[in-house]
Amino acid sequence: MYYETKSNSSSNQVLASPPLIALRNVSRLYDAGAIAAVTDVDLEIQASDCVAIVGASGSGKSSLVNLLCGIDYPSAGTVLWQGRPIRKQVEWARMRRTQIGIVFQEFNLIPTLTALENVELALFGRGLSTVRRQTRAAILLERVGLEARMHNRVTTLSGGERQRVAIARAIANEPLLLLADEPTGSLDSVNALLVADLLFKLHHDAKMAIVLVTHDEMLAARCRRQIRVKDGQIVEGAGKAVIAPSIVGAAGS
Ligand SMILES: Nc1ncnc2c1ncn2[C@@H]1O[C@H](COP(=O)(O)OP(=O)(O)OP(=O)(O)O)[C@@H](O)[C@H]1O
Ligand SMILES: [Mg+2]
Repeated sequence: MYYETKSNSSSNQVLASPPLIALRNVSRLYDAGAIAAVTDVDLEIQASDCVAIVGASGSGKSSLVNLLCGIDYPSAGTVLWQGRPIRKQVEWARMRRTQIGIVFQEFNLIPTLTALENVELALFGRGLSTVRRQTRAAILLERVGLEARMHNRVTTLSGGERQRVAIARAIANEPLLLLADEPTGSLDSVNALLVADLLFKLHHDAKMAIVLVTHDEMLAARCRRQIRVKDGQIVEGAGKAVIAPSIVGAAGS
């Protein structure tokens, strides 16, 4: 995995673009250090990347996802967004509204609202009129194949349909990064496949980076790279980006 490079014409040097998001020596301890959910992890996710996180139950996958979206904070180390450290809660909240979409195993929709209203919620704060907000929400639901069910309360939808509503909500603001923590974990095999296909299609069409936590090795294998977590550490596939020597050489010559 290489950094994207761009030439600086004045100095004729190659500059490396920072990863979209990176964890630098990040640890997350609980219970006054008795539990180490994440230990000294270095991880880089590039723009448009497609990464699976796999590992046994309790290995720290969700903890990593929570650190990648600021739902949780490191006990030590730094999280960088496009090379810039993000530390404040308010910054993370803004990022989750504009740059980072999240899909959870249990959908986390508001049960009393319709599919359309659930998606609309993600669009508040953008200064859209009610009509434009509803139109955009309807387009998003169409994209996930739910145009016929958009006025149904989400409690009347199947698990697969609910997850598609959650995906529509997660991509409502065209995030650069979509985090999905076991998005197919509560679904039967047919719906799991539908949801997985949808996620890969969105990744492909919108060029958004996807980080997909899964226990399903076949699903993980569909991602460009796989990260294996064990006891809070990445034991395979951290994929530290380096500048390709050939690119450096070519630019310098
Ligand atoms: N809030 C918390 N307080 C204390 N311990 C926690 C907390 N959150 C997570 N842990 C612990 O941290 C470790 C990693 O948990 P995590 O939820 O990241 O695992 P996981 O890989 O996502 O597991 P699963 O596949 O079951 O979802 C576990 O031992 C868990 O019990
Ligand atoms: Mg988990």
